[in-house]
Order: sequence, then C-alpha cells, then structure tokens
Amino acid sequence: MTTPYDLTGQVALVTGGTRGIGRATCMALGRQGAQVVVSSRKAAAVEETVAALREAGYQAEGIPANVGRLEDAHALADQALARHGRVDILVNNAATNPVFGAVEDTSPEAFAKIMDVNVRGPFELAKRLLPAMKAAGRGAIVNMSSIGGLAPERGLGIYSVSKAAIISLTQVMAKEWGKHGVRVNAICPGFIKTDFSQVLWSNEAVMGEVLANQPIARLGTPEDIAELALFLASPAAGFVTGGVYLADGGYLL
Ligand SMILES: NC(=O)c1ccc[n+]([C@@H]2O[C@H](COP(=O)([O-])OP(=O)(O)OC[C@H]3O[C@@H](n4cnc5c(N)ncnc54)[C@H](OP(=O)(O)O)[C@@H]3O)[C@@H](O)[C@H]2O)c1
Repeated sequence: MTTPYDLTGQVALVTGGTRGIGRATCMALGRQGAQVVVSSRKAAAVEETVAALREAGYQAEGIPANVGRLEDAHALADQALARHGRVDILVNNAATNPVFGAVEDTSPEAFAKIMDVNVRGPFELAKRLLPAMKAAGRGAIVNMSSIGGLAPERGLGIYSVSKAAIISLTQVMAKEWGKHGVRVNAICPGFIKTDFSQVLWSNEAVMGEVLANQPIARLGTPEDIAELALFLASPAAGFVTGGVYLADGGYLL
C-alpha cells in the first residue's frame, strides 16, 4: 500500500548520516523505501552505517566526505549524481561546533570552520544538486538548524550564528527554487541525546535547569527529529516550503 510517506524510487543523500540524528534519519528514509546515500567524514563509520541499513532490509550506499571542504562537498554531489542521475532528497545534517565559551574568544580559524561546515557546505551541496532536481521537476531539501538559530544559547556563540544563517539560507532557497518543484525546510531541534550534545546532557545541573522549563520534560531522541525530517522530505509535505520547524519539547516557549 502506498502512503504519502512512500519514498520508493527516490534517492536521498544524508550528511552526518553515521551518528545521532543523521543516522536515525537514514533509517527513517530507508524504511520508507528510499535509496539512501550515507555520508560523513569517516569511511569506516559510513561503511558500518550502510551495513546496518542493509541489515535492516533497506537500500543504502556510502560516500565519505567532509562537507566543510569545498572539493569534498562537490565530489559528494557529483558522485551521487553520477551513480543515480539525480538526488531527490538532501538532508543537510552535518555540523560542527569546535568552541564553547565566550564569543569574543572565537578565533578566525574557528569562525571559518563553523561557517564552512554548517553553512557553506549545505549551500554548495544544494546548489550542485539543483540542476538535476530542476530537470526532474522535484526535490526536497531539509536543513538541520537548531533552537540556537532562533534564540542563542549561552556558550554556543558563532555556532548559533551559523544556525541562524542556515534558517535564512533555507528561506532564500525556498523562495527561489519553489518554481522548480524544489521544497526547502529547516528543523530546529532542542536538546537531543547524541554525542554532539553530551557536554550538556552529561551535566546534571544544566539538564535540571533545561528540563524544569521544558513542557515535555525529557531529552529528545534522534528518532524524534528523524520522523519530522521524513515528513518534510516526503510527498506528505508537498505544500510545505520555507518552513522552520521546532522540535524542542516546548523548551523555547
Ligand atoms: N544533539 C542536539 O542536541 C542538537 C540540537 C540542535 C541541533 N542539532 C543539530 O543536529 C545535527 C546533527 O547533530 P547530532 O547531535 O546528531 O550530532 P552527532 O551525533 O555528533 O553526529 C554528527 C554527524 O556528523 C558527522 N560530521 C561531523 N562533522 C562533519 C563534517 N565536517 N562533514 C561531514 N560530516 C560530519 C559525524 O560523522 P564523522 O565524525 O564521521 O564525520 C556524524 O555522523 C547538527 O546539524 C546539529 O547542529 C543537534
């Protein structure tokens, strides 16, 4: 039985697909029948994730890439296009935050790295995949932002700036590319239990404060975000573009 979430015949590329939210998103897209192209920097992690997807009965393959490097981002898009002729779904999920603390302590190198991985990489990938999406008359791009992109969290500095930038990038692309059948949306996760946020959730005092003010008083799971990414990527969201979707247990209320 087909449903509006059926992705049979669609090719989905997920960056940062080997852990946390990205891996759960690969699983959700695979479950719905997509051919999943898993990517992250470490080839061994990519291989292991592809094996896990296939073990679950899903279609998957891997292409390692560091999206912060221009040549890697281009090669990733080119290889996916060379294999399949098009990519229908792009989930720009990989991100980095190498610094924690006062924003004035951010070095020019750290600033550039954060922007290269979190903003330029997603843009370059989307731009490179656009001609094939235009030719197919369809495409869905999901950009992983953060609650930090809407309201800066103390200590996250330029990471929050990069997450605000990807919200704006989402809106710009949605506005310009809707006429080609390409939808672009952003997700703002709250506190999700992954390696990335371990510094926060392993600190009892910090988590106590967070959860005391959060209507759904638990940490989010990667699957909480993956199911929203799946919705936005699928035909079920055919009229949804330029949106910014919070999944934060109500934390920002
Ligand atoms: N966890 C949270 O609480 C939270 C909250 C708000 C937003 N987010 C956002 O959600 C997304 C996923 O976060 P997560 O918590 O799932 O992270 P995670 O568990 O640490 O996983 C990060 C993934 O990204 C890959 N990666 C890191 N740097 C990369 C690069 N330069 N190029 C390509 N791949 C790279 C990692 O694999 P390799 O090491 O092999 O590259 C890994 O697969 C990020 O955009 C993050 O900003 C997370």
